Amino acid sequence: MDTSPAPFRPPAPVPRTRPPSMLEMIRIIYRNPLELWGEPSYNQPWIVVNGVGGPLVIANDPGLIRHVLVDNAKNYKLATVRQKVLRPILRDGLLTAEGQVWKRSRKAMAPVFTPRHIFGFAKPMLERTQAFAERYENVAGTVDVAHDMTLLTFDIMAETLFSNEIAGSPGSFGGEIERLFETMGRVDPLDILRAPDWLPRITHIRGRRTMRFFRMIVSDTVAMRIERMERTPDDVPEDFLTLLLNAEGEDGLTRQEVEDNIITFIGAGHETTARALGWTLYCLAEAPWERAPIEDEIDRVTKAEPDPVKWLDLMPLTRAAFEEAMRLYPPAPSINREPIVPETYETLKIPRGAQVLVMPWVVHRHRKLWDDPNAFLPSRFHPGNREKINRFQYLPFGAGPRICIGASFAMQEAVIALAVLLSRFRFDTVAETKPWPVQKLTTQPQGGLPMRVTRR
Ligand code: HEM
Repeated sequence: MDTSPAPFRPPAPVPRTRPPSMLEMIRIIYRNPLELWGEPSYNQPWIVVNGVGGPLVIANDPGLIRHVLVDNAKNYKLATVRQKVLRPILRDGLLTAEGQVWKRSRKAMAPVFTPRHIFGFAKPMLERTQAFAERYENVAGTVDVAHDMTLLTFDIMAETLFSNEIAGSPGSFGGEIERLFETMGRVDPLDILRAPDWLPRITHIRGRRTMRFFRMIVSDTVAMRIERMERTPDDVPEDFLTLLLNAEGEDGLTRQEVEDNIITFIGAGHETTARALGWTLYCLAEAPWERAPIEDEIDRVTKAEPDPVKWLDLMPLTRAAFEEAMRLYPPAPSINREPIVPETYETLKIPRGAQVLVMPWVVHRHRKLWDDPNAFLPSRFHPGNREKINRFQYLPFGAGPRICIGASFAMQEAVIALAVLLSRFRFDTVAETKPWPVQKLTTQPQGGLPMRVTRR
């Protein structure tokens, strides 16, 4: 008789059984696009629908996804809607750059993300998490783990990016970046309707001032570092900023691009990891039978191997839980493209102006691709099982030439953070822990993640 507990099925919108009206669609897109998708989206290899701003192709079939993101990637540009939201903030940062600028920047930045540099960040990741964990030593009542994880990953980012040498008051920097993405990083309904640019976007008005202020801090921070590099060339921190400035020059990055990429790394690299960490702690709390072997693994490895560089390889169960949480709650829930020239894939016609949506949220819960897709089952990612997952059915970091450049940084950071936190504390849900996944720029838990943290 099978006595194992029923798997935990964390909260998610029930797929719609009828398509929404146009007005409903706009409302849902504004409130929470994850609630838009109907039963066929989770069952079919692809679907073509007439969206409010033109045809949408929902791409679920791993072959089609590979075609769009890899084999014929040359024929696809970043979707206009996403560019309208992110480009005013990130300009020619890698996430929003296109064409020759993107090509040159990606090449110039490859040496920044080599394993040697990523391994070099393991120690600051460990130290920042240990310092962060102190706050839980004498905590009474509940804490919002979702919010706390953004503080932790922001702190790690500030340390690895510019060794916390920020111009002005470092305390205000974190708050400013949060405000910037909250105000500017929202899809405005006018953008979805493809309204002309001269119509003011109410959602963005407040953000402009924050953005000017924020750009000024970044520019001063870069100037401060350049001055230090000139003054004491043998004594400069080995962080992202130094590496990016060293990538300056012919065929490298311009000073402006260095600044754009600093903002991009903060924008693309801290909330994403924070969301995934929060959802992992939540799922493990609701599935303590999955958490117990992970705690054992962490206790055993941290005792035997103090070097955090080795932990990612030595902790397959911890890593699997994180990967499974990213399957259920992909931090980047949608990867959008537009064809440059209309084309055909098998029997599917992809017309000019269509938006092709490769949605990790949908693909990761597709009925034909996964067994029991809504269940939290980290064993899917255990060694031996992981290899059976098609490369194009699991896309938390995307795929192809524009695959996340920070993926190994994020995986290393996540395992180190989980190892430190779970070796010292137990995170449990309480009656008020009722997160609802909402798609903003990332997949956020609406209502936060109030949890009780106790010493193990
Ligand atoms: C769990 C954490 C993360 C997730 C889930 C994630 C996810 C993604 C995804 C899906 C893309 C591809 C977008 C597309 O194809 O349109 C991407 C691109 C990117 N990510 Fe990440 N990311 C994470 C962490 C990071 C970190 C830590 C950094 C920086 C240190 C980073 C920097 C970038 C950049 C610069 C790009 C643009 C790459 C290009 O277009 O060439 N990300 N990320």
